[in-house]
Amino acid sequence: MAQVRFPQLSQQALDYVMGGKIKSLLDLQQLSPGGYDLAELSGKRVPTLYIHIPFCHTLCRFCSFFRLKYDEAKAREYFKLLRQEVEILAQVGVQFDRLYIGGGTTTIIESELIETIELIKSRFDIQEVSCESDPIYFENSNPLALKGLVDRFSIGIQSFDDEILKHSGRYEKFGSGDAIADLSARAIAEFPTINLDMMMGFNNQTPDALTEDLMRASALKPGQITLYPLTLGVGKNRKKAGKLAGNPADLLGLYQTGRNVLEPGYEREYAWTYRRATGLPVEHDYVLDGEDCVGIGCGAFGRIGNKFYLSSFNLDDYARRVKAGELSCTSHKDLSTPLMRRYHLLMMMVKGHLPNSVFEKLYGRSLYTALPAEMAFLRLHGAIVPSACGDGYRTTPTGEFVALKMFSGFLAGMDWLREQAGSAAEEAQIARGQAIEVQAA
Ligand SMILES: C[S@@+](CC[C@H](N)C(=O)[O-])C[C@H]1O[C@@H](n2cnc3c(N)ncnc32)[C@H](O)[C@@H]1O
Ligand code: SF4
Repeated sequence: MAQVRFPQLSQQALDYVMGGKIKSLLDLQQLSPGGYDLAELSGKRVPTLYIHIPFCHTLCRFCSFFRLKYDEAKAREYFKLLRQEVEILAQVGVQFDRLYIGGGTTTIIESELIETIELIKSRFDIQEVSCESDPIYFENSNPLALKGLVDRFSIGIQSFDDEILKHSGRYEKFGSGDAIADLSARAIAEFPTINLDMMMGFNNQTPDALTEDLMRASALKPGQITLYPLTLGVGKNRKKAGKLAGNPADLLGLYQTGRNVLEPGYEREYAWTYRRATGLPVEHDYVLDGEDCVGIGCGAFGRIGNKFYLSSFNLDDYARRVKAGELSCTSHKDLSTPLMRRYHLLMMMVKGHLPNSVFEKLYGRSLYTALPAEMAFLRLHGAIVPSACGDGYRTTPTGEFVALKMFSGFLAGMDWLREQAGSAAEEAQIARGQAIEVQAA
C-alpha cells in the first residue's frame, strides 16, 4: 500500500495559508456588483449549468452549503421562479453540456423538480443530468419518475454509524445506518450511476469505524464513492460545526485508511472520489468544479474564465430580480492572473497531472517560474515528482492528500460565502424594515 506522508506542521501551515486566502478571496465586501456578461455568453457552449435548490427538511450541523428550512409554499414559489430564470437564460442563446442540480435537497418537491428538468432539457442541449439527493427520497417519493431524466444521483450517506448519524442530526430524518443502506441499494438498482457521499473526520470516528463504513458502502457496489473530509468553515460557523469534528491531526490516518479499504474494488479518480473498478469506461464521471459553469437559483455560484460569479442569497431579492426579467447573479470577482495560476495548479493537482506544456500555453511560463514557492513546497514534501513522459509532474500519494486538503478549502469557501451571505441578507432586510422570514442556517 502506498504510504502518505505529510508532516503535521506542514498541514497546519497549508491550512493557515488557505484559510487566509479563502477569507480574502471570497470576501463579499470585495465583490463587484454586476452579473454574467450576457454578450460574452451569447452563442457560447459552457460545460455546466448549475441550479441550486436551497430547501432542506433538516439542517445538518456540518453542512457548508446554502440551505433554508423547508416551507412548502416558499419552495413551490421558488421552483416557479427558477423556471422563469431558466427562460431568461434561454433567451441569452448560451448552450450547456451538462446540468448539475445541487442543494439543499433537490428532490424536496419531486413534481417541481421534474417540471424544471424537463424545461431545461427542452431549452438546452443537455447531454447529462447529475442530481444530489438525501437517502429518504428513495423511500418517501417515487424516484422512478426521475428515471430517464437523471443520469447520476449523488446520495448523502455520510456514515452508516448510528452514533455519527445521531450526532450530526441525520438519524431521525433519514433513518438508521441499516435503513439508509437499504435505500441506497434500491437506488443503485434503478439508476445508471449512483454516487454515495461518505465523510471522514467526525469525532470518535476511528480508522476501524471508517473501515466498517467504507466496507458497507463498497459492498453495495455503487458506481462511485466520494469520501469528503469533514470541513469546518473559516468564520463563526467553525465553532458550531467544530463540535462534530475529531482531531484534525487524525485526517491523514483516515485518508490512508480510506484508500486502503476502497482501492481493491474502487479506483481513485480524484483525491476524494473513487469509481468502481469494472474495467469498463465510466459513463458519468464525478463533476469536477474545474470547468466553466453558469449558476442560477438562490445561493448559486459560477465561473467563466477568470470571473467568479455569485447569485443572490436572499429569497426576496431573488424573487424581485427574476420577476424583473433579470438573472439572479448579483456580483462577481475578477480573479487576478496569480490567482488563476494557483487555481490551475490546484486543478492539475486534483487531476494528478501537472503538464508544463498546458500551463505554458495558458501563461507563457513554466509551472516553476510562475509559481516558485508553491512548486518548491510541493517538491520538498514529495507531493509531486517529474512525470515519466518528461512533460511536467505527477502527484504522489502524498500529493493526492495535499489535493484533498486543497479541495477541503473549496468547501470551507462555500461555508464562508453562506455565512457572510446569511448575515448580509439579514442586514439588508433589517435596513428595509422587513421581518426576517427565512434565513440561512
Ligand atoms: C450539498 S450536500 C447535499 C446532500 C443531501 N442534501 C443530503 O444531505 O443527503 C452534498 C454533500 O456535501 C457533503 N458536505 C456538506 N458539507 C460538508 C462539510 N462541511 N464537510 C464535508 N463534506 C460536506 C456531504 O457529504 C453532503 O452529502
Ligand atoms: S447535508 Fe443535505 S440535508 Fe443536510 S443541510 Fe446540507 S444539503 Fe441539507
